[in-house]
Amino acid sequence: MSSPTSLTIEPTYKQHLGWQILNDNETEEFLFGGGAGGGKSWLGCEWLISMCLRYPGTRYFIARKRLKILKQTTLITFFKVCRHHNLKRDAHYHYKEQQSVIEFYNGSVIDLLEVDYRPSDPDYEDLGSSEYTSGWIEEASEVVFGAFDTLTVRVNRQLNDKYGILGKVFITCNPKKNWLYKLFYKLWKAGTLPKNRKFLQSLVGDNPKNESGYKQKLIGLKNQAKKQRLLYGNWEYDDDPATLINFEAISDLLTNTVETKEKYMTVDVARFGEDKTVLTLWKGMEIYKVIIRSKQATNVTTDLIRTQASNEKIPYSNIAIDEDGVGGGVVDNLMGVRGFIANSSPLEDIRVNKDTEEKPNYRNLKTQCSYMLAEEINNHRIAVKPIVVADEDIDYDELLTEDLEQIKAKDPDSDETKLNIIPKDDVKEAIGRSPDYGDCLMMRMIFFLRLPNIINNEKVKINTASWVGTRWK
Ligand SMILES: Nc1ncnc2c1ncn2[C@@H]1O[C@H](COP(=O)(O)OP(=O)(O)OP(=O)(O)O)[C@@H](O)[C@H]1O
Ligand SMILES: [Mg+2]
Repeated sequence: MSSPTSLTIEPTYKQHLGWQILNDNETEEFLFGGGAGGGKSWLGCEWLISMCLRYPGTRYFIARKRLKILKQTTLITFFKVCRHHNLKRDAHYHYKEQQSVIEFYNGSVIDLLEVDYRPSDPDYEDLGSSEYTSGWIEEASEVVFGAFDTLTVRVNRQLNDKYGILGKVFITCNPKKNWLYKLFYKLWKAGTLPKNRKFLQSLVGDNPKNESGYKQKLIGLKNQAKKQRLLYGNWEYDDDPATLINFEAISDLLTNTVETKEKYMTVDVARFGEDKTVLTLWKGMEIYKVIIRSKQATNVTTDLIRTQASNEKIPYSNIAIDEDGVGGGVVDNLMGVRGFIANSSPLEDIRVNKDTEEKPNYRNLKTQCSYMLAEEINNHRIAVKPIVVADEDIDYDELLTEDLEQIKAKDPDSDETKLNIIPKDDVKEAIGRSPDYGDCLMMRMIFFLRLPNIINNEKVKINTASWVGTRWK
Protein backbone atom coordinates (compact mmCIF):
# COMPACT_ATOMS: atom_id res chain seq x y z
CA MET A 1 0.00 0.00 0.00
CA SER A 2 1.34 3.43 -0.86
CA SER A 3 2.13 5.79 1.95
CA PRO A 4 -0.07 8.85 2.32
CA THR A 5 1.79 11.89 1.06
CA SER A 6 -0.69 14.43 2.35
CA LEU A 7 -3.69 14.73 4.63
CA THR A 8 -6.60 16.88 3.62
CA ILE A 9 -8.21 18.25 6.71
CA GLU A 10 -11.51 20.08 6.94
CA PRO A 11 -11.43 21.79 10.30
CA THR A 12 -14.25 23.75 11.84
CA TYR A 13 -13.39 27.41 12.32
CA LYS A 14 -12.35 26.84 15.95
CA GLN A 15 -10.30 23.80 14.99
CA HIS A 16 -8.66 25.93 12.31
CA LEU A 17 -7.63 28.45 14.98
CA GLY A 18 -6.46 25.49 17.06
CA TRP A 19 -4.24 24.27 14.23
CA GLN A 20 -2.48 27.66 14.14
CA ILE A 21 -1.66 27.31 17.82
CA LEU A 22 -0.60 23.68 17.47
CA ASN A 23 1.84 24.71 14.77
CA ASP A 24 3.17 27.93 16.25
CA ASN A 25 6.55 28.45 17.80
CA GLU A 26 5.59 29.82 21.19
CA THR A 27 2.75 27.76 22.70
CA GLU A 28 3.80 24.90 24.96
CA GLU A 29 0.54 24.28 26.81
CA PHE A 30 -2.69 24.57 24.89
CA LEU A 31 -6.15 24.05 26.32
CA PHE A 32 -8.86 23.54 23.72
CA GLY A 33 -12.58 23.06 24.26
CA GLY A 34 -14.17 23.82 27.58
CA GLY A 35 -17.55 22.35 26.60
CA ALA A 36 -19.04 19.20 25.11
CA GLY A 37 -19.04 18.37 21.43
CA GLY A 38 -16.74 21.17 20.33
CA GLY A 39 -14.59 18.89 18.17
CA LYS A 40 -11.90 18.38 20.80
CA SER A 41 -11.11 14.71 20.35
CA TRP A 42 -11.19 14.95 16.58
CA LEU A 43 -8.65 17.75 16.61
CA GLY A 44 -6.41 15.87 19.05
CA CYS A 45 -6.44 12.75 16.89
CA GLU A 46 -5.96 14.58 13.62
CA TRP A 47 -3.10 16.62 15.04
CA LEU A 48 -1.20 13.59 16.37
CA ILE A 49 -1.75 11.61 13.17
CA SER A 50 -0.44 14.50 11.11
CA MET A 51 2.61 14.88 13.37
CA CYS A 52 3.36 11.16 13.18
CA LEU A 53 3.16 11.18 9.41
CA ARG A 54 5.12 14.39 8.89
CA TYR A 55 7.97 13.59 11.24
CA PRO A 56 9.18 9.97 11.07
CA GLY A 57 10.44 8.50 14.32
CA THR A 58 8.71 10.99 16.61
CA ARG A 59 6.82 9.92 19.72
CA TYR A 60 3.62 11.18 21.36
CA PHE A 61 1.22 10.30 24.13
CA ILE A 62 -2.50 10.39 24.60
CA ALA A 63 -3.08 10.45 28.35
CA ARG A 64 -6.29 10.04 30.24
CA LYS A 65 -7.19 9.23 33.80
CA ARG A 66 -8.19 5.70 32.90
CA LEU A 67 -6.70 3.70 30.07
CA LYS A 68 -9.80 1.60 29.76
CA ILE A 69 -11.99 4.64 29.06
CA LEU A 70 -9.36 6.03 26.71
CA LYS A 71 -9.58 2.85 24.68
CA GLN A 72 -13.37 2.83 24.74
CA THR A 73 -13.82 6.43 23.63
CA THR A 74 -10.83 8.42 22.40
CA LEU A 75 -9.35 5.49 20.56
CA ILE A 76 -12.65 4.99 18.74
CA THR A 77 -12.44 8.59 17.51
CA PHE A 78 -8.82 7.91 16.58
CA PHE A 79 -9.80 5.00 14.33
CA LYS A 80 -12.64 7.07 12.90
CA VAL A 81 -10.22 9.85 11.98
CA CYS A 82 -7.84 7.30 10.46
CA ARG A 83 -10.63 5.89 8.31
CA HIS A 84 -11.65 9.41 7.33
CA HIS A 85 -8.14 9.89 5.97
CA ASN A 86 -7.95 6.49 4.41
CA LEU A 87 -5.28 5.26 6.77
CA LYS A 88 -5.51 1.51 7.13
CA ARG A 89 -4.80 -0.45 10.25
CA ASP A 90 -1.88 -2.87 9.84
CA ALA A 91 -0.89 -1.10 6.63
CA HIS A 92 -0.19 2.46 7.73
CA TYR A 93 -0.19 1.78 11.43
CA HIS A 94 -0.37 -1.06 13.92
CA TYR A 95 -2.33 -0.88 17.09
CA LYS A 96 -0.73 -3.06 19.74
CA GLU A 97 -3.47 -3.39 22.28
CA GLN A 98 -1.43 -5.23 24.89
CA GLN A 99 1.25 -2.55 24.96
CA SER A 100 -1.28 0.26 24.46
CA VAL A 101 0.71 1.69 21.62
CA ILE A 102 0.07 2.79 18.05
CA GLU A 103 3.02 2.44 15.70
CA PHE A 104 3.12 4.08 12.31
CA TYR A 105 4.87 2.59 9.30
CA ASN A 106 7.50 5.35 9.44
CA GLY A 107 8.58 4.65 13.02
CA SER A 108 6.44 7.29 14.73
CA VAL A 109 4.66 6.13 17.86
CA ILE A 110 1.73 7.13 20.05
CA ASP A 111 1.61 5.73 23.60
CA LEU A 112 -1.72 5.48 25.36
CA LEU A 113 -1.18 6.41 28.99
CA GLU A 114 -3.16 6.03 32.16
CA VAL A 115 -2.41 8.93 34.49
CA ASP A 116 -4.66 8.16 37.42
CA TYR A 117 -3.36 9.39 40.76
CA ARG A 118 -1.84 6.56 42.75
CA PRO A 119 -0.62 7.10 46.28
CA SER A 120 2.14 4.55 45.59
CA ASP A 121 3.50 6.79 42.83
CA PRO A 122 2.62 10.35 43.81
CA ASP A 123 5.36 11.86 41.64
CA TYR A 124 4.43 9.90 38.53
CA GLU A 125 7.83 8.29 38.43
CA ASP A 126 6.33 5.59 36.23
CA LEU A 127 6.24 8.18 33.49
CA GLY A 128 9.74 9.28 34.33
CA SER A 129 11.71 7.51 31.64
CA SER A 130 9.43 8.27 28.73
CA GLU A 131 10.62 10.79 26.17
CA TYR A 132 8.10 12.44 23.91
CA THR A 133 7.99 14.94 21.08
CA SER A 134 4.60 16.28 22.19
CA GLY A 135 1.45 14.90 23.76
CA TRP A 136 -2.23 15.22 24.51
CA ILE A 137 -4.10 15.01 27.80
CA GLU A 138 -7.70 14.09 27.03
CA GLU A 139 -10.56 15.00 29.39
CA ALA A 140 -8.01 16.71 31.59
CA SER A 141 -10.70 17.73 34.08
CA GLU A 142 -10.32 14.24 35.54
CA VAL A 143 -6.54 14.45 35.73
CA VAL A 144 -4.72 15.84 38.76
CA PHE A 145 -2.23 18.66 38.56
CA GLY A 146 0.76 16.46 39.37
CA ALA A 147 0.24 14.38 36.23
CA PHE A 148 0.04 17.46 34.03
CA ASP A 149 3.10 18.91 35.69
CA THR A 150 5.10 15.73 35.06
CA LEU A 151 3.96 15.37 31.46
CA THR A 152 4.98 18.94 30.60
CA VAL A 153 8.61 17.99 31.25
CA ARG A 154 8.41 14.74 29.30
CA VAL A 155 7.86 16.50 25.95
CA ASN A 156 10.51 18.18 23.78
CA ARG A 157 12.65 15.07 24.09
CA GLN A 158 12.19 13.07 20.92
CA LEU A 159 13.70 14.50 17.76
CA ASN A 160 12.36 17.99 18.51
CA ASP A 161 15.68 19.60 17.61
CA LYS A 162 16.10 17.57 14.46
CA TYR A 163 12.76 18.69 13.09
CA GLY A 164 12.58 22.08 14.80
CA ILE A 165 9.38 21.13 16.67
CA LEU A 166 8.44 22.97 19.83
CA GLY A 167 7.13 20.28 22.20
CA LYS A 168 3.54 20.90 23.23
CA VAL A 169 1.06 19.53 25.69
CA PHE A 170 -2.38 19.72 24.12
CA ILE A 171 -5.19 19.59 26.64
CA THR A 172 -8.86 18.94 26.04
CA CYS A 173 -11.49 19.17 28.75
CA ASN A 174 -14.85 20.32 29.95
CA PRO A 175 -14.91 23.15 32.52
CA LYS A 176 -13.69 22.17 35.95
CA LYS A 177 -12.75 24.26 38.94
CA ASN A 178 -9.32 22.82 39.49
CA TRP A 179 -5.84 23.54 38.12
CA LEU A 180 -7.33 24.01 34.64
CA TYR A 181 -9.47 26.86 35.88
CA LYS A 182 -6.60 28.41 37.73
CA LEU A 183 -3.86 28.01 35.13
CA PHE A 184 -5.86 28.56 31.99
CA TYR A 185 -9.41 29.86 32.19
CA LYS A 186 -8.94 32.42 34.92
CA LEU A 187 -5.80 33.91 33.43
CA TRP A 188 -7.38 33.88 29.99
CA LYS A 189 -10.37 35.78 31.33
CA ALA A 190 -8.09 38.29 32.99
CA GLY A 191 -5.95 38.57 29.86
CA THR A 192 -2.86 37.50 31.78
CA LEU A 193 -2.00 34.14 30.22
CA PRO A 194 1.74 33.77 29.71
CA LYS A 195 2.86 33.60 26.08
CA ASN A 196 3.53 29.89 26.14
CA ARG A 197 0.04 29.02 27.39
CA LYS A 198 -3.18 29.33 25.39
CA PHE A 199 -6.86 28.73 25.87
CA LEU A 200 -9.33 28.44 23.00
CA GLN A 201 -12.97 27.83 23.70
CA SER A 202 -14.88 25.58 21.35
CA LEU A 203 -18.45 24.71 22.25
CA VAL A 204 -21.06 22.53 20.64
CA GLY A 205 -22.27 25.41 18.48
CA ASP A 206 -18.76 25.79 17.10
CA ASN A 207 -18.86 22.30 15.63
CA PRO A 208 -21.34 22.03 12.77
CA LYS A 209 -20.03 18.51 12.14
CA ASN A 210 -21.71 17.05 15.20
CA GLU A 211 -24.37 14.45 14.77
CA SER A 212 -27.75 16.15 14.65
CA GLY A 213 -29.34 15.74 18.04
CA TYR A 214 -26.13 16.18 20.05
CA LYS A 215 -26.90 19.80 20.88
CA GLN A 216 -30.54 18.98 21.63
CA LYS A 217 -29.36 16.42 24.14
CA LEU A 218 -27.31 19.06 25.93
CA ILE A 219 -30.20 21.53 25.88
CA GLY A 220 -32.37 18.87 27.47
CA LEU A 221 -30.01 18.25 30.41
CA LYS A 222 -31.91 18.45 33.69
CA ASN A 223 -28.91 19.05 35.88
CA GLN A 224 -28.45 22.80 35.70
CA ALA A 225 -24.79 22.79 36.66
CA LYS A 226 -24.00 20.14 34.09
CA LYS A 227 -25.89 22.02 31.42
CA GLN A 228 -24.06 25.23 32.27
CA ARG A 229 -20.72 23.53 31.99
CA LEU A 230 -21.21 21.26 29.00
CA LEU A 231 -23.51 23.37 26.82
CA TYR A 232 -22.45 26.91 27.66
CA GLY A 233 -18.87 26.24 28.73
CA ASN A 234 -19.48 27.94 32.06
CA TRP A 235 -16.44 27.44 34.31
CA GLU A 236 -18.04 28.84 37.41
CA TYR A 237 -20.14 25.74 37.97
CA ASP A 238 -19.02 22.60 39.65
CA ASP A 239 -21.38 19.68 39.47
CA ASP A 240 -19.40 17.25 41.52
CA PRO A 241 -22.14 15.51 43.52
CA ALA A 242 -19.72 15.15 46.42
CA THR A 243 -19.52 18.94 46.86
CA LEU A 244 -21.02 19.87 50.21
CA ILE A 245 -21.52 23.59 49.65
CA ASN A 246 -23.47 24.83 46.66
CA PHE A 247 -21.95 27.46 44.43
CA GLU A 248 -24.73 30.03 44.74
CA ALA A 249 -24.49 29.87 48.52
CA ILE A 250 -20.75 30.53 48.31
CA SER A 251 -21.39 33.58 46.12
CA ASP A 252 -23.99 34.79 48.61
CA LEU A 253 -21.38 34.90 51.39
CA LEU A 254 -20.33 38.33 50.17
CA THR A 255 -23.81 39.84 50.46
CA ASN A 256 -25.40 37.97 53.39
CA THR A 257 -26.49 39.79 56.54
CA VAL A 258 -26.02 37.77 59.71
CA GLU A 259 -25.84 37.91 63.48
CA THR A 260 -22.76 39.86 64.68
CA LYS A 261 -22.74 39.65 68.47
CA GLU A 262 -19.59 38.27 69.96
CA LYS A 263 -16.08 38.46 68.53
CA TYR A 264 -13.99 35.44 67.53
CA MET A 265 -10.71 34.73 65.82
CA THR A 266 -9.65 31.64 63.88
CA VAL A 267 -6.06 31.11 62.85
CA ASP A 268 -4.45 28.79 60.34
CA VAL A 269 -0.73 28.70 60.99
CA ALA A 270 1.59 28.14 58.01
CA ARG A 271 3.22 24.75 58.11
CA PHE A 272 5.43 24.71 55.07
CA GLY A 273 7.25 27.38 53.11
CA GLU A 274 4.41 27.87 50.65
CA ASP A 275 1.46 28.00 53.05
CA LYS A 276 0.08 31.22 54.42
CA THR A 277 -0.65 32.16 57.98
CA VAL A 278 -4.23 33.44 58.02
CA LEU A 279 -5.97 35.23 60.88
CA THR A 280 -9.72 35.49 60.37
CA LEU A 281 -11.61 37.84 62.67
CA TRP A 282 -15.32 37.44 63.25
CA LYS A 283 -18.17 39.47 64.65
CA GLY A 284 -20.58 36.65 65.37
CA MET A 285 -20.89 34.91 62.02
CA GLU A 286 -19.51 37.75 59.95
CA ILE A 287 -15.88 37.90 58.91
CA TYR A 288 -14.81 41.51 59.28
CA LYS A 289 -11.05 41.31 59.03
CA VAL A 290 -8.51 38.94 57.52
CA ILE A 291 -4.77 39.14 58.02
CA ILE A 292 -2.57 37.13 55.68
CA ARG A 293 1.16 36.67 56.13
CA SER A 294 3.41 34.76 53.75
CA LYS A 295 6.51 33.70 55.54
CA GLN A 296 6.44 34.26 59.21
CA ALA A 297 8.09 32.65 62.20
CA THR A 298 5.70 31.19 64.76
CA ASN A 299 6.77 33.59 67.51
CA VAL A 300 5.81 36.49 65.22
CA THR A 301 2.44 34.82 64.63
CA THR A 302 1.96 34.44 68.39
CA ASP A 303 2.66 38.15 68.90
CA LEU A 304 0.33 39.09 66.08
CA ILE A 305 -2.53 37.06 67.57
CA ARG A 306 -1.87 38.59 70.97
CA THR A 307 -1.92 42.14 69.61
CA GLN A 308 -5.02 41.55 67.50
CA ALA A 309 -6.85 39.93 70.39
CA SER A 310 -6.04 42.88 72.58
CA ASN A 311 -6.81 45.62 70.02
CA GLU A 312 -10.00 43.97 68.85
CA LYS A 313 -11.04 42.86 72.34
CA ILE A 314 -11.37 39.20 71.47
CA PRO A 315 -11.32 36.85 74.48
CA TYR A 316 -8.75 34.06 74.27
CA SER A 317 -11.47 31.49 74.78
CA ASN A 318 -12.99 32.74 71.50
CA ILE A 319 -9.80 32.08 69.57
CA ALA A 320 -9.24 28.81 67.70
CA ILE A 321 -5.86 27.92 66.27
CA ASP A 322 -5.02 24.88 64.25
CA GLU A 323 -2.83 22.82 66.46
CA ASP A 324 -1.40 20.32 63.99
CA GLY A 325 2.24 20.86 63.15
CA VAL A 326 3.81 24.18 64.07
CA GLY A 327 0.45 25.63 65.16
CA GLY A 328 0.88 23.58 68.33
CA GLY A 329 3.69 25.88 69.43
CA VAL A 330 1.49 28.92 68.94
CA VAL A 331 -1.32 27.35 70.96
CA ASP A 332 1.08 26.48 73.76
CA ASN A 333 2.10 30.11 74.08
CA LEU A 334 -1.41 31.52 74.21
CA MET A 335 -2.94 30.00 77.27
CA GLY A 336 -6.70 29.68 77.12
CA VAL A 337 -7.15 29.55 73.36
CA ARG A 338 -8.79 26.54 71.74
CA GLY A 339 -6.47 24.29 69.82
CA PHE A 340 -7.96 22.63 66.77
CA ILE A 341 -6.73 19.11 66.08
CA ALA A 342 -8.14 17.94 62.76
CA ASN A 343 -7.94 14.25 63.49
CA SER A 344 -9.28 14.38 67.05
CA SER A 345 -12.66 12.95 68.01
CA PRO A 346 -15.91 14.70 67.06
CA LEU A 347 -17.53 16.69 69.86
CA GLU A 348 -21.01 17.37 71.09
CA ASP A 349 -22.89 20.11 69.25
CA ILE A 350 -24.28 22.43 71.92
CA ARG A 351 -27.17 23.48 69.66
CA VAL A 352 -28.43 19.94 69.24
CA ASN A 353 -30.84 18.30 71.64
CA LYS A 354 -29.02 15.04 72.12
CA ASP A 355 -32.05 13.23 73.47
CA THR A 356 -34.19 13.81 70.41
CA GLU A 357 -31.82 14.31 67.52
CA GLU A 358 -29.81 11.64 65.87
CA LYS A 359 -26.08 12.18 66.12
CA PRO A 360 -24.25 11.87 62.80
CA ASN A 361 -21.17 9.73 62.87
CA TYR A 362 -18.20 11.83 61.76
CA ARG A 363 -14.78 10.43 61.07
CA ASN A 364 -13.06 13.19 63.04
CA LEU A 365 -13.36 16.78 64.25
CA LYS A 366 -12.43 18.32 60.93
CA THR A 367 -15.07 16.31 59.10
CA GLN A 368 -17.64 17.34 61.67
CA CYS A 369 -16.75 21.03 61.37
CA SER A 370 -16.68 20.83 57.57
CA TYR A 371 -20.20 19.42 57.47
CA MET A 372 -21.34 22.04 59.96
CA LEU A 373 -19.76 24.78 57.90
CA ALA A 374 -21.48 23.51 54.74
CA GLU A 375 -24.80 23.73 56.52
CA GLU A 376 -24.12 27.24 57.80
CA ILE A 377 -23.12 28.49 54.35
CA ASN A 378 -25.92 26.70 52.50
CA ASN A 379 -28.38 28.31 54.90
CA HIS A 380 -26.85 31.76 54.45
CA ARG A 381 -25.80 32.09 58.07
CA ILE A 382 -22.26 33.34 57.36
CA ALA A 383 -21.18 36.66 55.84
CA VAL A 384 -17.79 37.55 54.41
CA LYS A 385 -17.13 41.29 54.33
CA PRO A 386 -13.59 41.71 55.50
CA ILE A 387 -10.91 44.30 55.36
CA VAL A 388 -8.04 42.23 54.02
CA VAL A 389 -4.55 43.01 55.29
CA ALA A 390 -2.00 41.02 53.29
CA ASP A 391 1.70 41.28 52.62
CA GLU A 392 1.13 40.12 49.03
CA ASP A 393 -1.40 40.96 46.38
CA ILE A 394 -4.19 38.50 47.15
CA ASP A 395 -7.74 38.08 45.89
CA TYR A 396 -9.21 36.78 49.12
CA ASP A 397 -12.79 36.28 47.89
CA GLU A 398 -11.59 34.25 44.96
CA LEU A 399 -9.23 32.07 47.00
CA LEU A 400 -11.85 31.48 49.66
CA THR A 401 -14.37 30.44 47.01
CA GLU A 402 -11.84 28.00 45.61
CA ASP A 403 -11.22 26.49 49.04
CA LEU A 404 -14.90 26.13 49.88
CA GLU A 405 -15.65 24.38 46.64
CA GLN A 406 -13.13 21.74 47.58
CA ILE A 407 -15.00 20.70 50.69
CA LYS A 408 -16.37 17.42 49.47
CA ALA A 409 -17.69 14.20 50.88
CA LYS A 410 -15.34 11.28 50.47
CA ASP A 411 -16.90 8.22 48.84
CA PRO A 412 -20.48 9.39 49.49
CA ASP A 413 -21.83 6.19 47.99
CA SER A 414 -19.71 3.76 49.95
CA ASP A 415 -21.07 1.55 52.70
CA GLU A 416 -18.89 3.23 55.29
CA THR A 417 -21.24 4.60 57.93
CA LYS A 418 -18.87 7.31 59.12
CA LEU A 419 -19.10 10.59 57.26
CA ASN A 420 -15.78 11.65 55.82
CA ILE A 421 -14.38 14.40 53.63
CA ILE A 422 -11.71 14.24 50.96
CA PRO A 423 -8.23 14.50 52.45
CA LYS A 424 -6.21 17.68 52.44
CA ASP A 425 -3.62 16.18 50.11
CA ASP A 426 -6.27 15.72 47.43
CA VAL A 427 -7.41 19.30 47.91
CA LYS A 428 -3.84 20.46 47.53
CA GLU A 429 -3.55 18.46 44.33
CA ALA A 430 -6.70 20.06 42.99
CA ILE A 431 -5.92 23.69 43.75
CA GLY A 432 -2.14 23.58 43.98
CA ARG A 433 -1.94 25.04 47.49
CA SER A 434 -3.18 24.52 51.01
CA PRO A 435 -6.81 25.63 51.60
CA ASP A 436 -5.89 27.97 54.47
CA TYR A 437 -8.71 30.47 53.93
CA GLY A 438 -11.44 27.84 53.95
CA ASP A 439 -9.90 26.12 56.97
CA CYS A 440 -10.34 29.31 58.97
CA LEU A 441 -14.09 29.20 58.33
CA MET A 442 -14.24 25.51 59.14
CA MET A 443 -12.49 26.09 62.49
CA ARG A 444 -15.08 28.70 63.48
CA MET A 445 -17.53 25.81 63.95
CA ILE A 446 -15.65 24.58 66.99
CA PHE A 447 -17.40 27.27 69.02
CA PHE A 448 -20.66 25.40 68.48
CA LEU A 449 -19.06 22.37 70.08
CA ARG A 450 -18.66 21.57 73.72
CA LEU A 451 -15.16 21.45 75.18
CA PRO A 452 -14.00 17.85 75.25
CA ASN A 453 -13.59 17.57 79.01
CA ILE A 454 -17.17 18.57 79.67
CA ILE A 455 -18.74 16.30 77.13
CA ASN A 456 -18.57 12.88 78.74
CA ASN A 457 -17.80 13.93 82.24
CA GLU A 458 -14.89 11.58 81.92
CA LYS A 459 -11.39 12.06 83.11
CA VAL A 460 -9.20 13.61 80.45
CA LYS A 461 -5.72 12.30 80.13
CA ILE A 462 -3.18 14.99 80.80
CA ASN A 463 0.35 14.75 79.63
CA THR A 464 2.02 16.50 82.53
CA ALA A 465 5.19 17.11 80.58
CA SER A 466 3.40 19.36 78.10
CA TRP A 467 0.58 20.58 80.29
CA VAL A 468 0.45 24.34 80.26
CA GLY A 469 -2.64 25.27 82.17
CA THR A 470 -6.28 24.68 81.41
CA ARG A 471 -5.97 23.42 77.90
CA TRP A 472 -7.18 19.94 77.08
CA LYS A 473 -5.94 17.88 74.21
N1 LIG B 1 -12.80 18.34 11.42
C1 LIG B 1 -13.77 17.44 11.43
N2 LIG B 1 -14.05 16.75 10.31
C2 LIG B 1 -15.04 15.85 10.28
N3 LIG B 1 -15.84 15.55 11.34
C3 LIG B 1 -15.60 16.21 12.49
C4 LIG B 1 -14.56 17.17 12.58
N4 LIG B 1 -14.55 17.67 13.84
C5 LIG B 1 -15.54 17.04 14.49
N5 LIG B 1 -16.18 16.18 13.68
C6 LIG B 1 -17.37 15.37 14.03
O1 LIG B 1 -17.95 15.86 15.21
C7 LIG B 1 -18.07 14.83 16.20
C8 LIG B 1 -17.80 15.40 17.58
O2 LIG B 1 -16.45 15.81 17.64
P1 LIG B 1 -15.50 15.37 18.84
O3 LIG B 1 -15.77 13.96 19.22
O4 LIG B 1 -14.14 15.76 18.47
O5 LIG B 1 -16.08 16.35 19.95
P2 LIG B 1 -15.67 16.44 21.48
O6 LIG B 1 -15.54 17.88 21.78
O7 LIG B 1 -14.50 15.58 21.73
O8 LIG B 1 -16.98 15.85 22.13
P3 LIG B 1 -17.19 15.23 23.63
O9 LIG B 1 -17.38 16.43 24.50
O10 LIG B 1 -18.43 14.44 23.46
O11 LIG B 1 -15.97 14.44 23.96
C9 LIG B 1 -17.05 13.80 15.77
O12 LIG B 1 -17.42 12.51 16.12
C10 LIG B 1 -17.05 13.91 14.29
O13 LIG B 1 -18.08 13.14 13.74
MG1 LIG C 1 -14.23 13.99 23.07
